[in-house]
Amino acid sequence: MPPTAASLNRRQWLALAMPVPLLAAGCAARPGTRAPTEVDLVAQPVQAALRGDGHPAVDAWGYGGAVPGPVIRAVQGSRLRVDFHNRLPAATTVHWHGVRVPNAMDGVPHLTQPPVAPGGRFTYEFDLPDAGTFWYHSHLQSAEQVERGLQGVLVVEERQPPAVDRERVWVLDDWRLSRDGRLAGDFGDAHDIAHAGRIGNLVTVNGRLPRDLPVRRGERIRLRLVNAANARIFGLRFDGHAPQVVAIDGHPVAPHAPAGDTVVIAPGMRVDLVLDCIGRPGERHAVGDVFYPRAAYDLLRLAYEDVALREQPLPPFPPIAPNPLPEPDLASATTHALRFEGGMMGRLHGASLDGKPMGMMALMRSGKAWAVNGVVAGGHVHEPALTLERGRSYVLALVNDTRWHHPIHLHGHAFRVLRRNGRPTALREWQDTVLMAPDERVDVALVADNPGDWMLHCHILEHQDGGMMAIVRIR
Ligand code: C2O
Ligand code: CU
Repeated sequence: MPPTAASLNRRQWLALAMPVPLLAAGCAARPGTRAPTEVDLVAQPVQAALRGDGHPAVDAWGYGGAVPGPVIRAVQGSRLRVDFHNRLPAATTVHWHGVRVPNAMDGVPHLTQPPVAPGGRFTYEFDLPDAGTFWYHSHLQSAEQVERGLQGVLVVEERQPPAVDRERVWVLDDWRLSRDGRLAGDFGDAHDIAHAGRIGNLVTVNGRLPRDLPVRRGERIRLRLVNAANARIFGLRFDGHAPQVVAIDGHPVAPHAPAGDTVVIAPGMRVDLVLDCIGRPGERHAVGDVFYPRAAYDLLRLAYEDVALREQPLPPFPPIAPNPLPEPDLASATTHALRFEGGMMGRLHGASLDGKPMGMMALMRSGKAWAVNGVVAGGHVHEPALTLERGRSYVLALVNDTRWHHPIHLHGHAFRVLRRNGRPTALREWQDTVLMAPDERVDVALVADNPGDWMLHCHILEHQDGGMMAIVRIR
């Protein structure tokens, strides 16, 4: 057996975790840059010590015996091969969120592959065109399976990683535990579907109650944030610090302070931050989550050690080299509108489900509450909402005609976020998941260069379940 990527990666990880001299430009000659990374990934029931040792563990499902699963690391431009084994009592698939994979590797049951039965296996193998922070998760009954813990992070390293002292991955998640400490079994609850989704009552970072992060004055840390929650949106504020957003959904963006000094990260999204530790030895600074103002809380604290790493401030963090994404040609682009409707307090009176027009009450009785262009997504394969010509540029006008937030995710591509409510965005971010506020319209643009049937859905997984899902066909 060749050494598994997981073991190599642990060594790489340790190397990264050591303070390295800044500005000594990453390791130019990393061995194995082009060699395929091989990973064995097993999905199985696990005991998750969400509240730490000394508290009863929670029955969960995980990859690699842990929740979240292992951080898979590979270098941009290399190939990843994942030998996936299903040791769960249920069928499942693995989706590589944000990675521009060939359609057959996208992990969507009944659309791109059959479900992997209990005891079955499937090999996922694809190139990694883009560097950045990605993640993988179940795409079968995701509202239940992702909530149970089937999620992990895929870090695609830049060929020349930007210099930082340290890197941390924070998988943000929440869990709904019942009084007896078990994972509440009300998956697909009708109230959750028609409202904000399954918001949990226990927030974790990397599958544990958040713990303070020891830091040193002068340190520069790259924080890779991943929101793996079913429904909870996070809005992080770093007291006394000014983190810079350097990538969104894996793709580099001009380093900038987040709007309102709050890093908003919706389910499915990733944000890479560069945090310069400018506090003084011995200080404690809260990292708060203020997204739901009436339920704001401190996630954790930055805990300064007694000894500084350096006293001089560092020069500004340089932009990360862009990923090789095809630039949409707006002059020739065709615009398609996608109107999202439904939910409580909405204006949706009815929509079609499995070809049948149905009223809102009847939809709700079928566990549905949302529509895209008048169609409610049923079980699996259905007709595409849009058919796009391969290689052409398109603008998608995403119209949120509801009273709720929706992070809309398109598989297999990244798109530029052009306008919000008609106003051009300052940074034209590349994203694969874009958060729409209630009643907001977001225009995004892309080149339809990846052929196949691709999911487009809300990443609030109860909304996806409740019908907020469509197929974009590229032929
Ligand atoms: Cu991360 Cu279709 O999902
Ligand atoms: Cu939604």
